[in-house]
Order: sequence, then structure tokens, then C-alpha cells
Amino acid sequence: MQTVSGKTVLRQAVAGWRAAGERVAIVPTMGSLHGGHLSLVETARRIADRVVATIFVNPTQFGPGEDYAVYPRSLDSDADKLAAAGADLLFAPSVAAVYPFGIEQATRVIVPGMTERLCGASRPGHFDGVTSVVARLFALVQPDVAVFGQKDFQQQLVIRRMVEDLGLPIEVAVAPIVREADGLAMSSRNAYLGTDERQAATAIYQVLTAAAEEVRCGNRDFAAIEENAASKLAKSVSRVEYLAIRRADDLAPPQTGSGQLVVLAAALIGKVRLIDNVLVDIG
Ligand code: PAJ
Repeated sequence: MQTVSGKTVLRQAVAGWRAAGERVAIVPTMGSLHGGHLSLVETARRIADRVVATIFVNPTQFGPGEDYAVYPRSLDSDADKLAAAGADLLFAPSVAAVYPFGIEQATRVIVPGMTERLCGASRPGHFDGVTSVVARLFALVQPDVAVFGQKDFQQQLVIRRMVEDLGLPIEVAVAPIVREADGLAMSSRNAYLGTDERQAATAIYQVLTAAAEEVRCGNRDFAAIEENAASKLAKSVSRVEYLAIRRADDLAPPQTGSGQLVVLAAALIGKVRLIDNVLVDIG
């Protein structure tokens, strides 16, 4: 696997593959890689001929007081993991390479509406940073397909909307959540948890699966399920930011009827913010 930080070498590699008729996938990440990230590489290998993984801790998606400065960075071991998972190229650019005119003067891509709720409500500007950097990564790599994780449920919806609205010729694929043995969704931020906090964190998935099960069994009093689940979760975590049952295709509040719903939560354990979600089909 080749590791590249400049766009010229990146473009040459990708152009060569595309000229040979190969389908190129991108797997965007912020590094500190775990099994969840590596599963995206595996998905990418199945649906494309070449896999470009990117590692870039994007300053514009962190709010003031969030963990940008201390976000775990481990490029060498990440490169080893990506090579073992079968990525063809690691693109790990500098901030200056991604934002050549500087962050203040950078062109931004904003998806209104669905970015304002849930994670967007508690992290104002977060999704503007995500879409702006993902649009740049797409322009740099020029992939045929991009693979994201269901773990960041709202993020993949926002990116799908951006791709559709801008008419980008990129397919968006979503891979399921990879969990620890006790159900906790893998996350780079799990490394921040102390022993007791790590134990408390297991409540998130437990509460989400219990709420999803109630919906699956026919309970349609979504507000009561949400309230009940949030107060159960509040017993284990420092703060429940949100616990919501939404339509999976647009995050609107569900009406009775059929379709796929998603139960999502964000919670603070100490200062560590964790998110998770569980899908549920209603007939
Ligand atoms: P990051 O948090 O590093 O996540 C990179 C990708 O890995 C995302 O698509 C995320 O949903 C996926 N992922 C994380 N944990 C996962 C798990 N347990 N199972 C399956 N997939 C998982 O998301 C970002 O970075 C950034 O916002 C980014 C898109 C790279 C833009 O900066």
C-alpha cells in the first residue's frame, strides 16, 4: 500500500486505475482506526477494484471546546492496519493541502434542513464541516463509490443528500455498525473512557435495542418509548443529549404506517460524547 500526502501523486495513481477501467472506492476517516473503519475497507474491496482510504482530522467539523487538539492520531499503526485490510492507497494530507486558501477563506458546502436536528442541534456547524471536507476529498480522489458507516447515521444521510443535490457521479454505500463483544459501538472516542465509564457506555446499545424491540412489537406511542428509554439511559450516563425514533430515510418524526425507522441516541459519559443507533422495520 502506498501512503500519499500530496494531490499530484494521488491523482496520478487514481487516474491510472480509472484509465485501466478499474472502479475506485474512497473510505474517508479521521484515523485512530478500529474494526469499524476496517470493515468499511472490506466493504469497499467487495464493491470496487481499488480502495483509497483517507485519514484527515478535519478541523472544521469540531466546535470550539471540542476535542480537535487531542483527537487520537496514530498514522503509522493506521497505515499498517489499512495495508493488512487490503487498501491500495492511503491519502493522508496536511491541513494546508486540504484547505489551500486557509480555513477562513475556504469554499463551503452546506446541506440545510436535516443538518439542523439531532447531532446538528448539539454541534452547530459540525455537519457544515463534514460536508465541506467530504466534498473536497471527493474532488481530490474522484472516486466512483464512497463507503460510510451506519454508526454516524445522520452523517451518511447528509452526505447522500449532498451527492444527490450536487449531482456528483458518486455512489454512496453504507456499511453496518461494528460492535465490541458487549454491544458498544466501536469508536475512536471509546479510548477516552475510564474503566467505569466504559462499563456505563454499554447502556447506550442496551437501551436502543430495547426501544427498537418495543417498536418492532407494535408499540406506536413513540413519544412514550423515547421518554422511557431516555430516562433509563440517564441512569448510566452523565447526560442524554437526545434519544429519538425517526424515519430512516429523512430523520423526520415517524407517522404510523410502514417503513424503516431508526432509534438514535447521543450521550455524554463524563466529557466523552458517544452516538449509536439501531434500525427497525415496521410492517
Ligand atoms: P470517523 O469518525 O473516523 O469515521 C469514519 C467512518 O467510519 C465513518 O463513515 C463512520 O461512520 C465509520 N465508523 C465509525 N465507527 C464505526 C463502527 N463502529 N462501525 C462501522 N462504521 C464505523 O466520520 C468521520 O470520521 C468524519 O466525519 C469524516 C466522514 C471522515 C469526515 O471528516
